[in-house]
Amino acid sequence: MTSAPTPSSPSPSSDQLPLVAAATGLQPARRPVWFMRQAGRSLPEYRAIRAGRGMLEACFDSDLVTEITLQPVRRHGVDAAILFSDIVVPLKAAGVDLDIVAGTGPVIANPVRDEASIRALPHLLPAEVGAVGRAVTRLIAELPAGVALIGFAGAPFTLASYLVEGGPSRNYERTKALMHGSPQVWHQLVGRLADITIAFLRVQLDAGVHAVQLFDSWAGALSLADYTEFVAPHSARVLAEVAEYRRPRIHFGVGTGELLGAMGHVGADVVGVDWRIPLDVAADRVGPGKALQGNLDPAVLFAPWEVVEAHVRRIVAEGDRARAAGAAGHIVNLGHGVLPATDPDVLTRVVELVHSL
Ligand code: CP3
Repeated sequence: MTSAPTPSSPSPSSDQLPLVAAATGLQPARRPVWFMRQAGRSLPEYRAIRAGRGMLEACFDSDLVTEITLQPVRRHGVDAAILFSDIVVPLKAAGVDLDIVAGTGPVIANPVRDEASIRALPHLLPAEVGAVGRAVTRLIAELPAGVALIGFAGAPFTLASYLVEGGPSRNYERTKALMHGSPQVWHQLVGRLADITIAFLRVQLDAGVHAVQLFDSWAGALSLADYTEFVAPHSARVLAEVAEYRRPRIHFGVGTGELLGAMGHVGADVVGVDWRIPLDVAADRVGPGKALQGNLDPAVLFAPWEVVEAHVRRIVAEGDRARAAGAAGHIVNLGHGVLPATDPDVLTRVVELVHSL
């Protein structure tokens, strides 16, 4: 059983974490910065510890999850750790037959495309992700002062896209065919996935994560009308179900320039922005009172340092303008995940630069 959520912050000092302060409209002690996919193949220490071990095997080993989550904190001095896991971990834990294939991503053995297979989807029992909860407990004890731990889950649409397509997709044609061809069946599917997402987030929140990020990575493939009708109600339910914990809820997707307002409305405290739109423009679309996270293009990290530095300075200035225009705060991040070939020393320099500004 999960314990009752605490109605207040997880610890008396959590408001003082720079990431939590920036997410909630308080003045952070320093400008917070972390990177999506900071724990991963850009780090030689990650490649060493993962050698000979499958991705999913690592995700269910609480010692490995703890160590891999801490690696980028030690190396880069970021203001947040993101739990090392994957959006398909709760599906695997519940009994869905899938694997994470190196260089490809999640691959589902039996794609879910009809009512019978939706009804057969398992529920997630908290004990099935017990290793994740144990890793969170250890991380809360071991993280340096001032560093927030971010838990996460995949949003119903992005999870559904993997289940329906059977793996990564360029055009989401089967997903959109189901959504438009059998709307009732679609809503059943994303409703079931929302239940799994809620259960997975609750395990992490009960174990003490300071914030959660709901990844709707591929929502940018949708029109605003389709997002509003077929996706938003389910993401809204997920975020409402964890509101009682009173910890920042970050919501992110790629290519979501047209969806930013709607993604804020589903109940996020922080809206993640990719590199296609400046933060001050994003602030206008999201509306006042919410914080923004982003939005350095991960490919720019491959350019000479002078170029990287100019982009970081521009993003910080745009973040300041967004705040002046009513955004609650700005968390510096990339516009999507660290690319595997990134030089990790550049990431460390970005952290130093952000903290110096
Ligand atoms: O550092 C972190 O950000 C924490 C770890 C993390 C992973 N996956 C580890 C991982 C997080 C937050 C995720 C979330 C995730 N997984 C998302 C949403 C975030 C996003 O990028 O938009 C998505 C869409 C997935 C699905 C998935 N899993 C993909 C697309 C891939 C990459 C496939 C590949 O090999 O390039 C994975 C595998 C994966 N998840 C890796 C890592 C470090 C690489 C596998 C490995 O190291 O062997």
